Amino acid sequence: MTSRSATQVGIVGAGPAGLLLSHLLALRGIESVVVEDRSRAYCEARQRAGLLEAGSVELLRAVGLGARMDAEGLEHGGIYLQFAGERHHIDFRDLTGGRWVTIWAQTEIVKDLIRARLAAGGAIEFEVSGTELGDLDTDRPVLRYTDSAGQRHEVRCDAIAGCDGFHGISRDSMPPGLVTVAERGYPYAWLGILATVPPSTDELIYCRHDDGFALHTMRTPQVSRLYLQVPADEDIARWPDDRIWRELQHRLGLPGWDLKEGPITEKAIAPMRSFVAAPMRYRRLFLAGDAAHIVPPTGAKGLNLAIGDVTVLAAALAGLLRDGREDLADAYSDTCLRRVWRATHFSWWMTSMLHVAPHPDPFETELQLSQLRYVVSSRAAATMLAENYTGYFPPRW
Ligand code: FAD
Ligand code: PHB
Repeated sequence: MTSRSATQVGIVGAGPAGLLLSHLLALRGIESVVVEDRSRAYCEARQRAGLLEAGSVELLRAVGLGARMDAEGLEHGGIYLQFAGERHHIDFRDLTGGRWVTIWAQTEIVKDLIRARLAAGGAIEFEVSGTELGDLDTDRPVLRYTDSAGQRHEVRCDAIAGCDGFHGISRDSMPPGLVTVAERGYPYAWLGILATVPPSTDELIYCRHDDGFALHTMRTPQVSRLYLQVPADEDIARWPDDRIWRELQHRLGLPGWDLKEGPITEKAIAPMRSFVAAPMRYRRLFLAGDAAHIVPPTGAKGLNLAIGDVTVLAAALAGLLRDGREDLADAYSDTCLRRVWRATHFSWWMTSMLHVAPHPDPFETELQLSQLRYVVSSRAAATMLAENYTGYFPPRW
């Protein structure tokens, strides 16, 4: 028999968007239920983003999630851009009047959020199946799912937040014909590794090499994260550890600089795509995070956009469900899409400037090199990069 209940906000997905939304709503006195089809352990271990804009850091601090991030996160005041055999520093603090970014892994944010929600008595159902949305053309939509013990549930909601990532069910639950999609594919992917070795750099190195892009980032003073551009349809089996290190040494190497190697504890290939679905709302269904938009990781924007969306959404839902005002909910999609399109442009720009097409022609190569030379030699161009990278439209709580 189906178990029937009610809540104010049904949230699909316990990624950073869904969990943070549940936390922000609780701070505004609004009850929610989060349903997630994977296990808690899987959600806490899934290796993804690592870089937070200053505004995301400030938001997490303001809502009581800053303690571990402030103690263990790594604040960076710039990045290195490497091309044509030279490495250049872009100084964000100098260029933006003090803005910075923080290395703090998505896995750690998710762990803190799950712990905080459960400690506050919040409802998170892991390992559900058969998630469905219904009655979306009414003001009391329904969230249906089967829990890990096999019990079917039907939760009546005042609103539903689709925070179920790119492959979730929420976006496709919108009425046919409502959503317009704008997208770009890229003919390459990223092979990412986690390695138990201290980072060989103090700040991130974004490197354009004739044989492909490489990125040196990090997680902690003991753990490095590195990425290599590989073909879009690449098979990970073709990349044994020694080949990965050889290629990283080849692309990132510079005379007088040493890339330290260590045991690889994780490796995976991630596809690259730009994708924006609009509008992000249909009546009482709101999409947030990767469920509505995807950017290639070169601009480090995906997690920051998810944080931005749910910050706007929490205020909109408080207006709608607590204060009886609809204006913030009506503005939700447009408010978010302004930030989303800025990040979409920036991520596309960084990606196009730093990656090498499968069959590069001299025109494209020279344009990339000219753009890179401009960024490292013009204060205006460097400021454009710095402003976008550190967060051009920081979310306000
Ligand atoms: P997700 O994290 O995808 O969470 C969605 C959740 O919904 C998942 O837990 C999923 O299991 C669940 N779900 C799906 N379907 C259902 C269903 N039917 N029922 C119930 N639950 C469901 N971003 C940055 O800002 N900075 C970076 O440095 C950065 N680096 C990245 C590096 C890589 C290699 C990758 C792949 C991504 C990176 N990103 C980065 C992007 C960032 O990780 C994502 O944008 C972020 O995870 C989005 O969060 P989300 O909560 O919207 O979606
Ligand atoms: C990461 O630390 O994983 C990371 C950092 C910057 C990016 C992408 C990924 O642009």
